[in-house]
Amino acid sequence: MRTVLYPGSFDPVTNGHMDIIRRAAKAFDTVIVGILYNPSKPAGAFPVDVRISLLENALSGLDNVQVAAFGGLLIEAVQACGADAVIRGLRTTADVEIELQMARINHELGGVETLLMAAAPETVHISASMVREIARFGGDIAPYVPPSICKQVAALLKPL
Ligand code: PNS
Repeated sequence: MRTVLYPGSFDPVTNGHMDIIRRAAKAFDTVIVGILYNPSKPAGAFPVDVRISLLENALSGLDNVQVAAFGGLLIEAVQACGADAVIRGLRTTADVEIELQMARINHELGGVETLLMAAAPETVHISASMVREIARFGGDIAPYVPPSICKQVAALLKPL
């Protein structure tokens, strides 16, 4: 049984994340989508429990995918969930520098292997930060987030 951890902020989950999760679920027996957060820092746009709930909603029907939250180092999350490897998506060359640095540090610190999956071309421009900005100005986020959570995300971030 091969288990892969897909870590991130998921603040909120986007169609870009969903592309990586769906493809990872075909390549591995189990995918654990791990929300990594820093317990001593302020929460992101969405509290961790809301991010979990949005992910669970979006992932409904993907039977070999689980959601978990981890408040520490990525290498500790890998140990805690017994994952064989970590997977991350690569959108652009800007991602490459960051992901290579993280992959090398996680290998050095904990012997963790990171697999980098090329994002689907139709998702490379999507980011959670863009989704938040569009929603906060009242724009349409439907092209960027799973349909089942679109209304909830828009309502939670709606302009004052
Ligand atoms: O979705 P993001 O924000 O690109 O995800 C980044 C994340 C959460 C995967 C990364 O910041 C992380 O692994 N944080 C945990 C802390 C850690 O282990 N840092 C050192 C190695 S990168």
